[in-house]
Amino acid sequence: MLIAPSLLSSDFSRLAEEVLRIEDAGADWLHIDVMDGHFVPNLTIGPPVVAALAKVARAPLDVHVMIENPLQWVEAYAKAGAHVWTFHAEAVDGVAGAREVIAACREHGIPKVGLALNPDTALEPWEELLDELDMVLVMSVFPGFGGQSFMPEVLDKVRRLRTLGFQGHVEMDGGLNGETLPLCAEAGADVLVSGSAIFGAPDVKQRITEFRQLAEAAVAANPS
Ligand code: DX5
Ligand code: ZN
Repeated sequence: MLIAPSLLSSDFSRLAEEVLRIEDAGADWLHIDVMDGHFVPNLTIGPPVVAALAKVARAPLDVHVMIENPLQWVEAYAKAGAHVWTFHAEAVDGVAGAREVIAACREHGIPKVGLALNPDTALEPWEELLDELDMVLVMSVFPGFGGQSFMPEVLDKVRRLRTLGFQGHVEMDGGLNGETLPLCAEAGADVLVSGSAIFGAPDVKQRITEFRQLAEAAVAANPS
């Protein structure tokens, strides 16, 4: 079970300190939300900031790009030091478009490639790609902002991925907290992103520990 705090909810004026603080608190991956102001109605950070974070981070950078035309940006994020690079299905031209992006990620040596699905995007049209992916990110909110409410209906996609035998990571992102995170783990997710619930906690280490215990208990109670 991997806990991936989203730096979107960290203090952007002290990013390096926030990275060290959250790693010391037990973060497994650092989730970085890249938004371009087009694919989503918000604008956050880009390759220079990811490259700066890579210099200070010890944990893998889990870069979630909510951008149009992801193919154009693969090389820049590879050079910046992305360990996991997840692009959106809605931003490419079908399965063929996704294959081009995956191929570019392999060519540029990004260790892991993920495909993200918005809450209203069905899994079925993308299933033929599963063997080529290291991760599927099942969004449990519409991307763009932290602090939104979890949409439980997306859990069916997580269950279906595991029923299909998908062996890669299944990440969930959006609205995870002490109540919703066990549902994600029970459904088969193994990478849990949380922004506001972790960075908003009075004690981030305690919160990450609690989340890990909740997730592991949910899996133990319902082994699949
Ligand atoms: C939403 C981002 C999420 C967000 C999660 O567009 O992809 O990673 O930061 O934040 P919370 O956990 O606050 O919903
Ligand atoms: Zn994200």
